[in-house]
Amino acid sequence: MLQIVRTVSDLRALIAERRKAGQRIAMVPTMGALHEGHLTLVDAGLAAADEVVVSLFVNPTQFAPGEDLDRYPRDEEGDRAKLETRGATILWAPVPTEMYPDGFATSVSVGGPSEGLETEHRPHFFGGVATVVTKLLLQALPDVAVFGEKDYQQLQVIRRLVTDLNIPVEVMGGPTIREADGLAMSSRNAYLSADERAAAPALREALKRAGRAVLEDSSPPQAEAAGAEHLAASGFHKVDYIAIRHADSLAAVTPHDIASGVPLRVLGAAHLGKTRLIDNLDPRSE
Ligand code: PAJ
Repeated sequence: MLQIVRTVSDLRALIAERRKAGQRIAMVPTMGALHEGHLTLVDAGLAAADEVVVSLFVNPTQFAPGEDLDRYPRDEEGDRAKLETRGATILWAPVPTEMYPDGFATSVSVGGPSEGLETEHRPHFFGGVATVVTKLLLQALPDVAVFGEKDYQQLQVIRRLVTDLNIPVEVMGGPTIREADGLAMSSRNAYLSADERAAAPALREALKRAGRAVLEDSSPPQAEAAGAEHLAASGFHKVDYIAIRHADSLAAVTPHDIASGVPLRVLGAAHLGKTRLIDNLDPRSE
């Protein structure tokens, strides 16, 4: 049975009760409008623990003015039904004033993997994510927290944050779940028109091309440019970045690093109409 809680004190009381009964707790933070990508993280949580707390909170501090906070898809009833079917046990759906009461004045700032990539285009973003994820983890204090590789830079930022602040939780990453044509599932895909939806799988294709090029003999900048060209030719009107990076630190890599086999990740972000899509992959496993 899925229990819905709306206040930090109810959440803590419920989790304390479950822990007393010997249950191991997993947490899956989300902003709702749940799809199969989110639900596979619930599966991973249930494989690693007895109970899964899913948080549903569209976090205003990670949206800049003019971004899509107001039109971000919301469907709590649909989300509740999906979570119930999937076996999640607690839905943590706080009202904004419970998360950010009057006088709230603290933020968590992360360096390292948060530098560059998303931060160049959404400078407010990781401060908002790091603050809300710290709060969510401290509210629930789960044994394990599961995040998707779909938001790869976010996953690395959260790993860094949990290590640096000694938050006693194990962070697990789950693979990106895709539509049949390769488009990574995202709540924001709902914004795409039919034509944009048809063009959208080119993002993954561009990442694959960049990855193949750099593993053959192109330099990282040449390979990144080849990926960006594919996007422009496929109807994307603005490419924020296509970048080949070290898979853990997200630092830039040299041809020498690549030849010596350092773990790599190709990451990209680009705009189709009014919608900004992101994706990433491991070039050696594509
Ligand atoms: P949201 O975009 O709702 O994503 C919640 C979690 O689902 C994240 O860990 C994300 O990486 C994962 N996810 C999304 N699409 C996925 C896909 N196609 N395959 C696998 N996992 C996928 O990311 C956030 O919310 C927020 O920034 C949050 C961490 C909740 C903080 O507000």
